[in-house]
Amino acid sequence: MSAEIVTTIAHLRELVAAARRQGRSVACVPTMGALHAGHGALIDGARAAADVVVVTIFVNPIQFDRPDDYRLYARQLDADREFCARRGVDLIFAPSAAEMYPQPTVTFVEALELERHLCGAGRPGHFRGVATVVAKLFHIVQPDTAWFGEKDAQQLAIVRQMVRDLNFPVEIVSVATVREPDGLALSSRNQRLAPAERRAAPILFRALTEGQRLIAGGERQAPAVKAAMLRILEREPAARVEYLEVVDARMQPVDRIPADVRLAAAVWFGSTRLIDNLLCRIDAE
Ligand code: PAJ
Repeated sequence: MSAEIVTTIAHLRELVAAARRQGRSVACVPTMGALHAGHGALIDGARAAADVVVVTIFVNPIQFDRPDDYRLYARQLDADREFCARRGVDLIFAPSAAEMYPQPTVTFVEALELERHLCGAGRPGHFRGVATVVAKLFHIVQPDTAWFGEKDAQQLAIVRQMVRDLNFPVEIVSVATVREPDGLALSSRNQRLAPAERRAAPILFRALTEGQRLIAGGERQAPAVKAAMLRILEREPAARVEYLEVVDARMQPVDRIPADVRLAAAVWFGSTRLIDNLLCRIDAE
């Protein structure tokens, strides 16, 4: 049995329960499909850590703030299944929207101040949709570990907080961002970039790298770091900045840089919105 596709909650629960009765550990990798090497890194980590690997593929309607983004989101289950089979995934949970949301949801999970800035500010309801579907997936799969990418740092922080606050019996494991050779973070949305936009897109990583270099060199004023990053992005006419922030571990913007911070940005290239972030570690001064 390799990369078997399961579409109902009841069937998935049966298969996982049978594995558990045999004493096998379960790892879950939640995704929206259109799998690439970034997802692959999560799957490889899960494969090495657990007996049974469940990849969930569900384009979650309640986390999209723009109907077009939902409609245009890449859906390619056949290719994703091959991708999963090659990486030794046991089960793919790929439910329909009707299976996950038979009725409109009235119960949501929210992470209040962790959602206030960055992507939460520009995409109303997005993280409420993410936290709610991740909570549902955790209840459905009941994994021992669940694997998330640092590429979506705010999402990762919210999921970790949810697990702590609501006592989910799951360990969250994070994986470093996988990048193209030119620095562009892999994303399912990269497929939508026109060739000229694709050539422009690595400017996002270059701006973050410059911010990181300044902080490593001793700069401690966030406005100065942001201004330097903005100057780089403004050189690229195809790039339109949505936000550019220096945040602490709770995803709150800081003015002075007292300890480890994360540089985070969302930049539009045409009608495609890309996000990226870099952690800047500060040795005790
Ligand atoms: P999706 O965008 O498909 O991402 C699934 C997981 O892959 C996330 O944890 C994300 O951080 C990770 N990932 C994406 N690109 C990556 C890269 N370049 N390097 C490393 N990891 C990467 O994030 C979601 O789906 C959804 O919001 C979801 C959590 C599944 C809830 O619907």
